[in-house]
Amino acid sequence: MIRRTAVVTAALCALLTAVPAAAYDAEAGRQKAEANCAPCHGKDGVSEQPTVPSLAGQKNDYVVLALFQFRNGHRPSEVMGPIAKPLADNDLGNLAKYYSSLQPWPAGRAADASAAAAGPALTLKDHCIQCHGPNLTGQDSVPRIAGQKIDYLTMQLKAFHAGNRGDIDGNMTSIAAALSDADIATLADYVSGLSAP
Ligand code: HEC
Ligand code: HEC
Repeated sequence: MIRRTAVVTAALCALLTAVPAAAYDAEAGRQKAEANCAPCHGKDGVSEQPTVPSLAGQKNDYVVLALFQFRNGHRPSEVMGPIAKPLADNDLGNLAKYYSSLQPWPAGRAADASAAAAGPALTLKDHCIQCHGPNLTGQDSVPRIAGQKIDYLTMQLKAFHAGNRGDIDGNMTSIAAALSDADIATLADYVSGLSAP
């Protein structure tokens, strides 16, 4: 597992540094996204389906990372695996540039009062804000999670907890391993209700 992660990381670093984001084409990304991705991820990258993540305003490097991991099977997904397979490196760069250029998705719901009260201390104690940023809006290859779909967040945290979600460096897997079901429910509820610029 550790070896495999190291190989994925090296290949991804090569991909991210070989061609700077500026060299990619957001318009080509938009055309591909409207034809192939919008039916599930929504028009302008704002999903209306509970288990499909929004992509609008997601971090460029994280979108490349996610597609890269779906394509090589490191992040197993029956839905995204076959969709990512035929994408060329250029497509990954164009799609990431397009989605990251959009206005970030709005929070689709308000957190329950108890989760809203308990959430901030939990994200501090479990270091979420250290990597995902003070407003959980992400940075570099760490994803924006503020306002993401609650069902999607719950599924991903459970998958990390169970050790079967693709994970670039293993950090999320070790962090989620220590979370209880109640922590996961509170975190997903709180984070999904955050509206952040
Ligand atoms: C049939 C519906 C469907 C289509 C079409 C689709 N996706 Fe997805 N996508 C999903 C689902 C469901 C997930 C969550 C997969 C998982 O984690 O198992 C996902 C996850 C993703 C993620 C990861 C986001 C994150 O926050 O980790 C990215 C990036 C992504 N898709 C990009 C694309 C792109 C680009 C296209 C078009 C080329 C596309 N998707 C087409 C359903 C779809
Ligand atoms: C050491 C840095 C780090 C810390 C601390 C951290 N994360 Fe993450 N998180 C990441 C990275 C990197 C990824 C992307 C991993 C990948 O896909 O390879 C990620 C992915 C995620 C995802 C999946 C998002 C998506 O779009 O699929 C969720 C949800 C998440 N983190 C929530 C949390 C929560 C909640 C906490 C605190 C309990 C936390 N993270 C703490 C670095 C971190």
